[in-house]
Amino acid sequence: MVRILLIVVFILSTSGVIRCARANDDDGHGFVRSLDPKLLSLKEEKLSHFRIYWHDITSGSNATSISVVRPSNISATGFGIINVIDDPLTLGPKLSSKLVGRAQGFYALSSQEELGLLMSMNFAFTEGKYNGSTITVLGRNPVFHKVREMPVIGGSGLFRFARGYVQARTHTLNMKTGDAIVEYNCYVLHY
Ligand SMILES: *[C@@H]1O[C@H](CO)[C@@H](O)[C@H](O)[C@H]1NC(C)=O
Ligand SMILES: *[C@@H]1O[C@H](CO)[C@@H](O)[C@H](O)[C@H]1NC(C)=O
Ligand SMILES: *[C@@H]1O[C@H](CO)[C@@H](O)[C@H](O)[C@H]1NC(C)=O
Repeated sequence: MVRILLIVVFILSTSGVIRCARANDDDGHGFVRSLDPKLLSLKEEKLSHFRIYWHDITSGSNATSISVVRPSNISATGFGIINVIDDPLTLGPKLSSKLVGRAQGFYALSSQEELGLLMSMNFAFTEGKYNGSTITVLGRNPVFHKVREMPVIGGSGLFRFARGYVQARTHTLNMKTGDAIVEYNCYVLHY
């Protein structure tokens, strides 16, 4: 009786071993493993909202936004221009209000029909417990539309696993210099 049991256990365990080996072969040499989310202290996902003002200063000696690509023949929509930005993010619409971070990245004028930007930027926060954390915004920004919605595609630090969206509304736009202050309402799911 004991011997039969041992044989059954042996057969089960060897077939198990064979299955594991085959699974490892199939899933790309076994370099990926699943992890218990608790090991990364991931608990409840939460939704955060914050409103910040984005200052794009293209003029003067302290410009925070500079053109790095300018086509030789610039069309009415500026198609082809690319600006690199390091724009202050403040709590109020005034540049002198509390600085909470900077929007770093670039935008490309990528529409031939209207003034439409491809935005690719990280909001790098410097305030309080968010200091050092970032969210990444990547999306389409037709600047003369009242509300422009762009996806939040990720984040770091306290914003790990972030996803969500931002809504941008122009607060002021200086048509002479191109300087702009834009209100960003950010809705972000993260842990
Ligand atoms: C540029 O920044 C410097 C240092 O913050 C400041 O002293 C100066 O007034 C600024 N210039 C302009 C034109 O804003
Ligand atoms: C520049 O653009 C204008 C209008 O878009 C066009 O009429 C003109 O031929 C262009 N010039 C060159 C050199 O491509
Ligand atoms: C944010 O963190 C950096 C580096 O850790 C530090 O130098 C800086 O003083 C911090 N800023 C604020 C506002 O706490």
